[in-house]
Amino acid sequence: MALSDLIEKLELLKTKAEKVLKEAFDQASIEIFISEYLGKKSEIQNLFKTLKDLSPEEKKEAGPVINTLRDELQKKAFAKRDQLEQAALEEKLKTEWLDVTKNIPSEKGSLHPISHIQREIERIFTSMGFQIADGPMVETEWNNFDALNIESDHPARDMQDTFFVQNDGNDSQKNTVLRTHTSNIQIRTLKEQGAPLKIIAPGRVFRNEALDATHDAIFYQVEGMMVDKGINLSHLKGVIQVMLDGIFEKNIKTRIRPGYFPFVEPGLEIDIWWEYIDKDGVAQGKWLEFMGAGMIHPNVLTNGGVDPNEYSGFAFGFGLTRLAMMKYGIEDIRLLFSLKKDFLTQF
Ligand code: DAH
Repeated sequence: MALSDLIEKLELLKTKAEKVLKEAFDQASIEIFISEYLGKKSEIQNLFKTLKDLSPEEKKEAGPVINTLRDELQKKAFAKRDQLEQAALEEKLKTEWLDVTKNIPSEKGSLHPISHIQREIERIFTSMGFQIADGPMVETEWNNFDALNIESDHPARDMQDTFFVQNDGNDSQKNTVLRTHTSNIQIRTLKEQGAPLKIIAPGRVFRNEALDATHDAIFYQVEGMMVDKGINLSHLKGVIQVMLDGIFEKNIKTRIRPGYFPFVEPGLEIDIWWEYIDKDGVAQGKWLEFMGAGMIHPNVLTNGGVDPNEYSGFAFGFGLTRLAMMKYGIEDIRLLFSLKKDFLTQF
């Protein structure tokens, strides 16, 4: 291309581009302009490529002209973009504002049923001198399993379908899981506080479960333990009875059966007698499995740095989600996490 042709093209391009820019009315059209007129495949970039056909003197003349045009268009485009952005913001401020002194929403928020019941549990246990303990939801495989006497090849691991976060070797102190139960807090607090101690640990746990009316992959548990000199099962029974009577505001009948959990010896299942009115309006009752418990296994105390010859303790764990469902008569677990306002505001 001859120099005169190039200059003419640049003039035309300038006129056209300025017109388009002037007519651009929103941010999107500016973005399109930038890509069409200044982008890699734009005309101006093509004109840069034609420079190679010119003589060195012509190149010296044409080069700066193209550069100047590109810089000028870029500057104008950016300025217009800023201007449109500002206008859009001002428009938004004019229409989307709330006078908080006038438009106070009439409805107040309410606590989620799980929070309600958690607070109740905390109130009852703190009144008995228990502390509230907490820990991370991403836990080492060791704290979640090994330290609780659940070795890697132990069949008890199959009872809890686990989400592994990091699993790249045999070092269970390094591998991490989403905690499958709140029993991980046993090891953490034993190590941190030593004996004697009395704690409960409410919190969220995770299992690789298929979702149905009574199972969710995320749910809440409460772990509890008491370690001191001379602790035995009668202490456990007394503490649980106080909790149940407090939560249900009446005397709750319990039944203790042997149960197996690797971290307690002996291990127990505690059932509660559940009274309800059936579909036909008739009063009924049945035993419901409520919690696992037992005397803390000597290996667990040792792993937590506490001497089992000097101290003993009980531990228990139950589903807070399940307790909320029992207490409030909720039949489908999915409602609890449904964000349905009609449902949630009842509590
Ligand atoms: N961690 C058990 C579970 O998730 C519950 C449990 C059972 C906790 C017995 C305990 C216990 O502390 O002693 O199924």
